[in-house]
Amino acid sequence: MTVNHSHSRQFLFICLIIPLWSSFVANSFAEKVTLDPSNWGLKEGEACISCHKKASAGLTHAWKNSAHGEAGVNCLDCHLAEQDDNDAIEHEGSIIATIVSPKDCGRCHTKEYQETEASVHSKAIAVIKDHLPGQSDDPSGKEMQSAGCASCHGSVVEVRGDGTLSPETWPNTGIGRVNPDGSRGSCSACHTRHSFSKAQARDPSACTWCHTGPDSPDDKVYWSSKHGAMFNANRDKMNLSSDTWVLGKDYSAAPTCVTCHMGASPGIKPSHDVGMRNAWGLNGPVSEKQHLVIFEDNDRRNLPASQTAPRRGTEISKVTGEMGKVKAVATPKRRRQIMSKVCLECHNKNFVNDFMKQFDNLVELYNEKYGKPAQAIMQTLYAEDLLTPAPFDEPLESIYWRLWHDEATKARHGAAMMSPNLTWWEGMHRVAHNFYNEFLPAVRKVAGEDRANSLIDEHVGSLEHHKWLKDASITNPILGYGIGRTSHD
Ligand code: HEC
Ligand code: HEC
Ligand code: HEC
Ligand code: HEC
Ligand code: HEC
Ligand code: HEC
Ligand code: HEC
Ligand code: HEC
Repeated sequence: MTVNHSHSRQFLFICLIIPLWSSFVANSFAEKVTLDPSNWGLKEGEACISCHKKASAGLTHAWKNSAHGEAGVNCLDCHLAEQDDNDAIEHEGSIIATIVSPKDCGRCHTKEYQETEASVHSKAIAVIKDHLPGQSDDPSGKEMQSAGCASCHGSVVEVRGDGTLSPETWPNTGIGRVNPDGSRGSCSACHTRHSFSKAQARDPSACTWCHTGPDSPDDKVYWSSKHGAMFNANRDKMNLSSDTWVLGKDYSAAPTCVTCHMGASPGIKPSHDVGMRNAWGLNGPVSEKQHLVIFEDNDRRNLPASQTAPRRGTEISKVTGEMGKVKAVATPKRRRQIMSKVCLECHNKNFVNDFMKQFDNLVELYNEKYGKPAQAIMQTLYAEDLLTPAPFDEPLESIYWRLWHDEATKARHGAAMMSPNLTWWEGMHRVAHNFYNEFLPAVRKVAGEDRANSLIDEHVGSLEHHKWLKDASITNPILGYGIGRTSHD
């Protein structure tokens, strides 16, 4: 009897519970993972694990404890390659590739792959194209470019004849890496291998690995803002490991980079397209607001707002050079609205609008007072052959570079993200010092006294912003002397 009973129970278990359980597992992945679970957990993958448990125990341990390890996604499910992939290598009886590209991840995470590929991140090579490893020998030097620019911006990974990767271009997890399969970017830029955790990617340090230094001083900016201080004080209340991470629902102790640039809040979906919410292009000698052009295939690019927005259906070139058909354009106003909506979870409307006004004003002040005059003077000096075309062979060029690139970028990012220290002390204070005390004196040296005087009168002396310097009764509180002169003469 008892035996029969337990048999019928087992039978019931097999008939009902197991299918229920497995359909539950399948469904629980279906929400987030594109591929059906029956496609992963390849049997040959078990050999990788048993050997790599010894060959690279740390790596295997990280994988085992990850969401992938738990879901049964193994080494081969990711590293699997086709014989004719150009980076395929024969390894212990299997055909594998070292690089698991965003496209490979996209088999299972289509949404994240498409958003990443469309975003400004995946185009980060375009801005260093003249500085790519092995392609030029400018002041920074080829050897530096692999270890420097390309580590953040990405390399074009070269595959050697035997399928191995060239050391000039690999290892690399730059954000705009061009992979052997043609896809762009690197998911492990933010989700480090082999844990590929979303908790880690939500932490500001996932971003500040790259967003640091003069190109993007957001590391310093964030930690010297109240938001950064709040994160520090409340790290344990940030709920970073939560399955969903909706601002105001799953956490509220502090905003992080991800909260403002990628994260979900009520009415806003999370997105791997980091650039969406930015109204300005803050870098460059002069800042401009920018349209976000969205193409029919969902690719996107920024266009200065001073150009009329292209109409729906027109063809314009993409960042990568090919042509694309315009699907929609998000104006700077629209982009600002989305960013501001994030703030509204913790601040009120007037506070946010007034803050944005202060930020915009600071950027415009830099543009009008320093950025445009300095740019106009430099352009004239090049046009009149008073400077050689080579970019960094004359001291004035380095001074000008430091002015708009190092110092003004700190000021602009500082004002955008609430750091008074970066805005003033490390930003505008140094811009002002540089402009009056280094830039203008160097212009005088290059142009000669007469040409310099006329140039400075035209572009600087004529501006209300600099009028106080002309007034002989006022002593420049910073320098103690007038426009660009190195003494009281
Ligand atoms: C018999 C042991 C063994 C097996 C089985 C094995 N590996 Fe390896 N694998 C190694 C060792 C050892 C290295 C390191 C070689 C070195 O340091 O040059 C390595 C290197 C690698 C690399 C780096 C290759 C490179 O040069 O960039 C990858 C990726 C890799 N294995 C993945 C796998 C996968 C996936 C499987 C299963 C299909 C697998 N391994 C099976 C031992 C093994
Ligand atoms: C979720 C996908 C995924 C899984 C699962 C996975 N890998 Fe990787 N692996 C990657 C990615 C991504 C890289 C880095 C290359 C890149 O950026 O594309 C990598 C790199 C490697 C490297 C070379 C880089 C290094 O740091 O030395 C080895 C070796 C390696 N994996 C072995 C394994 C082994 C062994 C397993 C199973 C225990 C495994 N991988 C499971 C995605 C995966
Ligand atoms: C064969 C399918 C498959 C591939 C390929 C794959 N993943 Fe996953 N991934 C999964 C599954 C399944 C989960 C677990 C989902 C869940 O628990 O809801 C997951 C979860 C994740 C998570 C969430 C982790 C967490 O902390 O909860 C991240 C991030 C992730 N994958 C990134 C990647 C990256 C990056 C790659 C490529 C290097 C990749 N995946 C390749 C199937 C895959
Ligand atoms: C530590 C990481 C890092 C290194 C190293 C680095 N960059 Fe950048 N760079 C960034 C980040 C992050 C941005 C994005 C700034 C922004 O959009 O606000 C950026 C922006 C830029 C821009 C401006 C793009 C724009 O949106 O206007 C150029 C040009 C550039 N970098 C070139 C280089 C070159 C050339 C090198 C090497 C000589 C280099 N970078 C080294 C991280 C880095
Ligand atoms: C710029 C950093 C960054 C890059 C690059 C990046 N991710 Fe993410 N990813 C994140 C962050 C941050 C989260 C958590 C977002 C949240 O919950 O608000 C996340 C979450 C995820 C999740 C979990 C989604 C969920 O709802 O549980 C998956 C899967 C994922 N990423 C896959 C990828 C893949 C695949 C790539 C490459 C194509 C990639 N990510 C590239 C930052 C990044
Ligand atoms: C591996 C390096 C790297 C990592 C990690 C990284 N970024 Fe970036 N990011 C860049 C580079 C390089 C650019 C400049 C791209 C360009 O101008 O083409 C950039 C651009 C941006 C921009 C500017 C977009 C625009 O419209 O100009 C934002 C915002 C941004 N990143 C946010 C983030 C956030 C948030 C994280 C972390 C979740 C992050 N990034 C992680 C390298 C990185
Ligand atoms: C409280 C919200 C908030 C936080 C936290 C935050 N940002 Fe920002 N970020 C902004 C705003 C607002 C702007 C300016 C948007 C605009 O152009 O209108 C901005 C601008 C930027 C830009 C400049 C893009 C450009 O146009 O050149 C980058 C890069 C960036 N943030 C990265 C980061 C990183 C990395 C972190 C974390 C260390 C971070 N942000 C934290 C709100 C935030
Ligand atoms: C998770 C909640 C949260 C989010 C999201 C958030 N903030 Fe804050 N913010 C705070 C808190 C709390 C303070 C500290 C206020 C205080 O001084 O008591 C603060 C401080 C500030 C300050 C400094 C005020 C001062 O006293 O100097 C500014 C400016 C600011 N936030 C603007 C913004 C903007 C703009 C956004 C959106 C881009 C934003 N915040 C998003 C919670 C948030």
